[in-house]
Amino acid sequence: MARLLVTGGASFIGSNFVHHVVAHTDHHVTVLDKLTYAGNRASLSGQPEPRVDFVHGDVADADLVDQLVESSDGVVHFAAESHNDNSLECPEPFVHSNVIGTFTLLEAVRRHGVRLHHVSTDEVYGDLALEDPGRFTECSPYNPSSPYSSTKAGSDLLVRAWARSFGVAATISNCSNNYGPYQHVEKFIPRQITNVLRGIRPKLYGEGRNVRDWIHADDHSSAVLQILEKGRVGETYLIGADGEKDNKTVIELILTMMGQDPAAYDHVPDRLGHDLRYAIDPTKLGDELGWRPRYRDFEHGLAATIEWYRDHEYWWAPAKDATEAFYARLGQ
Ligand code: NAD
Ligand code: DAU
Repeated sequence: MARLLVTGGASFIGSNFVHHVVAHTDHHVTVLDKLTYAGNRASLSGQPEPRVDFVHGDVADADLVDQLVESSDGVVHFAAESHNDNSLECPEPFVHSNVIGTFTLLEAVRRHGVRLHHVSTDEVYGDLALEDPGRFTECSPYNPSSPYSSTKAGSDLLVRAWARSFGVAATISNCSNNYGPYQHVEKFIPRQITNVLRGIRPKLYGEGRNVRDWIHADDHSSAVLQILEKGRVGETYLIGADGEKDNKTVIELILTMMGQDPAAYDHVPDRLGHDLRYAIDPTKLGDELGWRPRYRDFEHGLAATIEWYRDHEYWWAPAKDATEAFYARLGQ
């Protein structure tokens, strides 16, 4: 049995990963999370106590991180500021958590010779044209657009440099847009579902032609676990599930699946520098590690996600009003 340190384990994807690890392995998990507005301890409830410990702290706290890394066999690094709209309003926390936090963790795994998996995003590659038949691969050039994606790109480059110069045993994954349970109501899909549940009209940025490549968070989790266990040290793996959809299609699908008129949404001002299209070619992950997504039908996964938000109002309601007040200030 391995002792895993999971930074940001109270996040949307981090908590899905902890649930996945507990269900599919014998590993012990220690979660390190700062519990920012995006972290939620309730996302980890129901886990058997001897399997999961929780430490409240900052991944940029060098002493705390050193102590936790020293007693771990492996680290999976999710902790980050993750929302593009917030990064456009106030970039500083993104530099702190995503860049300084990753640097702090790298120094600790270097000192103690512990393997690290760094969880990153396809947004580091910038965007693709809508009509481009291509998809991102592990060889795509870095070209981030927002403060969020540029700090994630910076963190990836730190990991690559620590692997090459200091021999840190690290892997990196860059994944596309996740959906599923425990996602904060600031994000596109949960915002629209909870708007409908609250009687608020869903909000579409611009014309809604932007394309995202959707993957269920449990599929992201299974890919990260396989990379941690079988991936080649020093390598980058792209994670995606052939889930390209434009935003207009997704918002209309949500409305239809929730029994509403598919046209009952508002167009709101577009995001600054809004990336047009993300698309992942996951061939390397499939060929090398045999990984395949379990959720191949987006509508099926979306229906389950809608049901989850219907049944878990206690989980999302505390954040809803503040989130909508933030968007109202932006006119979105
Ligand atoms: P999230 O916004 O739901 O949660 C972020 C978590 O990080 C919270 O629990 C927060 O408390 C914690 N955190 C922030 N700063 C911290 C710090 N300094 N120290 C310790 N904890 C801190 O995040 P998410 O959407 O689940 O994303 C998790 C990771 O996956 C991020 O690294 C993100 O870049 C990456 N990612 C996300 C997606 C996506 O679609 N959401 C896709 C690809 C990659
Ligand atoms: O691609 C991976 C990335 O996916 C992750 O790295 C990020 O952490 C994650 O937040 C996500 O980034 P996006 O910016 O693509 O996700 P978001 O949910 O904010 O928006 C998805 C799309 O929907 C995007 O084109 C903007 C649009 N949108 C968003 C909101 C909140 C709307 O049209 N209306 C909205 O209300």
